[in-house]
Amino acid sequence: MEARPQPQDDPELLARFTERIAAGDQIEAGEWLPGEYRFEAQRLIQMHANSEIMGALPEREWIPRAPTLARKMALTAKVQDEVGHGMLLYRVAETLGRTREEMIAELVEGRARFHNVFHYPAETWADVAIIQVFVDGAAMQTQGALRSCSYAPYARVLKRICYEEDFHIQLGLDVWRTLAEGTPRQRAMLQDALRRWWTPLIHFFGMPDRVSPHTEKMLAWRIKVKSNEELRQQFLRRFVPIILEYGLEVPDPGLRRVDGEDRYVYTEPDWEELKRVGRNGGPKSAERLALRQRFYRQHAWVREAVIQWAAA
Ligand SMILES: [Fe+2]
Ligand SMILES: [Fe+2]
Repeated sequence: MEARPQPQDDPELLARFTERIAAGDQIEAGEWLPGEYRFEAQRLIQMHANSEIMGALPEREWIPRAPTLARKMALTAKVQDEVGHGMLLYRVAETLGRTREEMIAELVEGRARFHNVFHYPAETWADVAIIQVFVDGAAMQTQGALRSCSYAPYARVLKRICYEEDFHIQLGLDVWRTLAEGTPRQRAMLQDALRRWWTPLIHFFGMPDRVSPHTEKMLAWRIKVKSNEELRQQFLRRFVPIILEYGLEVPDPGLRRVDGEDRYVYTEPDWEELKRVGRNGGPKSAERLALRQRFYRQHAWVREAVIQWAAA
């Protein structure tokens, strides 16, 4: 990871920029930006793009094994949506000064980050339901909030992405419902998948933010719109009732809703695991990166052909 640069911004431009953001304005591609803003926004959007294309892999594994033709077609379309999100996001990240080639090279060489949940295996068909409902549901909290972020090109693509993510959740709920209302074996499979995914889902939003000048600046600049804990609570409020409604168990005996408050308490997860996984040290990190690398090499001819065609 690069060290955070210490930009020497023109104080007058910086003051005008801060004023504009405080007034609720958004910044378009190519407009003046403080160095730190550019660095943080670029890093955020690049990680989001990486997560979309790495996130396509666990579900992709299930396309050949989906139980019916309809499920197979729906899953194929969903995986295509995710890759499409990646492409839109790399394009936005490019407007902040790094090329797509650099970003993809960083990803396939294991020097970049992608979201913790995509470093874990999808062991059974029930994992597909969990990913579609809860992983996409967790992503929806973060991305939904960022629709009002200050970088206009990101806010715009997020509107389209969220529309599709919402559809993924609906699709997942259909798979979830089928398994939850199915045979005892199907219910047990779903409960087991939920147990395995619970900690990564709690990890998804990151550690509760430290109150630091950095976090405050990110919130003031609207590169961050809500705190990690606010987003996690929003997720629990929407998704814990779905688990309970189907008579399944939340895999955390310490989870409870605080009386009279719209807030849950939960067992503190092992944050060290999140840090390890984030550094590409998860159970599936190496395998998935190797797969991404292999396909990147294998499809080099397509890129070459397209570039030659575009140049002709
Ligand atoms: Fe997506
Ligand atoms: Fe999705």
